[in-house]
Amino acid sequence: MDNKIVFITGISRGIGLEIAKQFINNGYFVIGTSRSKLDLNTMLESDDCLHFPLDITDRASVSKCLDQLKKIDKLPNVLINNAGITKDQLFLRMKDDEWDDVINSNLTSAFNITKLFIKFMVKKRFGRIINISSVAGLMGNPGQVNYSASKAGLGGFTRALAKEVAVRNITVNCIAPGFIETDMTNNFSEDELKNIFNQIPANKMGNSRDVADLALFLASPKGNYITGQTISVDGGLYMS
Ligand SMILES: NC(=O)c1ccc[n+]([C@@H]2O[C@H](COP(=O)([O-])OP(=O)(O)OC[C@H]3O[C@@H](n4cnc5c(N)ncnc54)[C@H](OP(=O)(O)O)[C@@H]3O)[C@@H](O)[C@H]2O)c1
Repeated sequence: MDNKIVFITGISRGIGLEIAKQFINNGYFVIGTSRSKLDLNTMLESDDCLHFPLDITDRASVSKCLDQLKKIDKLPNVLINNAGITKDQLFLRMKDDEWDDVINSNLTSAFNITKLFIKFMVKKRFGRIINISSVAGLMGNPGQVNYSASKAGLGGFTRALAKEVAVRNITVNCIAPGFIETDMTNNFSEDELKNIFNQIPANKMGNSRDVADLALFLASPKGNYITGQTISVDGGLYMS
């Protein structure tokens, strides 16, 4: 593929940052977003990247970002909807804003961002859209009704959109990580970790590279005929 340009949401740390590193190493120009400001060139030790500090739930900022990318002729042909948050709470105590924030950040944001770039992909008759879901969207996690619903929603989004755009050479897939070592999972007590490992056949957490490698594969020509799928990267957690 010529002119490899990837747009990654949630690039400031964790899985998004590792995906960015792997795509840079594989010859992509990387465009990343996060709410926090950062020096992506230094973080990735590369000039082939650009950072937009923005909130992906804010449609006006997202649309400004598109205008800027058009001006510099850097519209992406690979999109990775990675940014996500958790606001865990038992359902009986869950507040409206805990529901709204998680659904907006994890699901509606994928709509906001994908709408931006898909017309360009259709025009070019090429595109790769990769949504970072979660095993919680497949299994359901107690205390995570909002998060599980947002990630299950991403699965439906992926399958429906995949059917609409497959004929235009655009693939749409989900990666469903299990427990991956990042800031999102660094608050467990030793007992909680023991309990988690007992549920995972591989008996350990995964790392961001495990997710990034699959994203790279799906974006590459090797992923040409894979669409509408949710692929777990979870050490066997979902099947067990
Ligand atoms: N870690 C795991 O075990 C695990 C398991 C399953 C699924 N996942 C999924 O994998 C993805 C990445 O997770 P992670 O563990 O790398 O999380 P993380 O370390 O908490 O990073 C989340 C990223 O999303 C960005 N972000 C959050 N809300 C945003 C918003 N409204 N606008 C723009 N950027 C926003 C954050 O940047 P700012 O804070 O600077 O905005 C950050 O870069 C998420 O979708 C998560 O649900 C993770």
